[in-house]
Amino acid sequence: MNIAVLCSGSGTNLQAIIDSVRNGYIPAKIALVVSDEGRAYALERASNAGIETLILNAKDFKSREDFDKEIVKNLKKRNVELVVLAGFMRLMSPYFVKVYKNRIMNIHPALLPAFKGTHGIKDALDYGVKVTGPTVHFVDEKLDHGPIILQKAIEVKDDDTEETLLERVHKEEHVIYPEAIKLFVERRLEIEGRRVRIV
Ligand code: GAR
Repeated sequence: MNIAVLCSGSGTNLQAIIDSVRNGYIPAKIALVVSDEGRAYALERASNAGIETLILNAKDFKSREDFDKEIVKNLKKRNVELVVLAGFMRLMSPYFVKVYKNRIMNIHPALLPAFKGTHGIKDALDYGVKVTGPTVHFVDEKLDHGPIILQKAIEVKDDDTEETLLERVHKEEHVIYPEAIKLFVERRLEIEGRRVRIV
């Protein structure tokens, strides 16, 4: 199965996925890495692994849908069956979600539906929760909203800072994201309404 990974930043999750493909844990090929940010370190990780990259600048497109159409065109050309968002900081258009319905995954650094948005770790810490952790979910039209595939709870310590908590959340992200992708590629995820069953 061909998969594509969309990133905007440092790409530590991309790296975990690259490593999991390389060692055979995920039986798939990363056919393309797309970034909306030309300076993203994720692009270097992809190039180092010999993976084709595509940089798209949102400013070059009239609308979100036009931007997404360009991505979809490139994904179709490479027969991509699963789209993996790994720190891709854009909301997908209804067009994209429709074309790849139930075939787009995202990772979020908090236990959804809590602390949606771009500051999941800071928001959880500021709120004072005792437990938080990453969520892998399918993407629908709403922000951080689609059916949940995997979550991992971790304890928040009294002396945690954003940095220390981020480090522990990332460590778990790098375990559950490859696991969720593996399950998808092996066609072991069944979606019924909001519930995702592992078969
Ligand atoms: C990850 O921690 C992911 O959970 C978060 O961006 C980070 C990307 O890190 N995503 C969101 O906050 C989405 N709402 P990475 O570039 O090192 O993989």
